[in-house]
Amino acid sequence: MPKLIVVTRDGTETVVEGKEGWSVMEIIRDNGFDELLALCGGCCSCATCHVQVDECWLDKLPKMGADEDDLLDTSDHRGPSSRLSCQPQFGPELDGMRVRIAPED
Ligand code: FES
Repeated sequence: MPKLIVVTRDGTETVVEGKEGWSVMEIIRDNGFDELLALCGGCCSCATCHVQVDECWLDKLPKMGADEDDLLDTSDHRGPSSRLSCQPQFGPELDGMRVRIAPED
């Protein structure tokens, strides 16, 4: 099974099973990481699913849409590898990807 590596705000790293066709947010949430609020449920309207992706994986993710880009601009913690985890879907090409839950805004 492909794996997703999740790093929480205190730096704890956990390897979870990555489910194909699920969003990265759904995988993180389904594994009980309460830090990732995902308040809008994946509608790209809250930015509480903000993660920072290890830069070597950025090219493998689908391009960011305008809505995601605009919403990320509302975060004080936006960085070059920021994504809203409800947008990219997980698949085998992302096996081993490492994402860090962004600080709370
Ligand atoms: S869950 Fe709200 S923007 Fe991703």
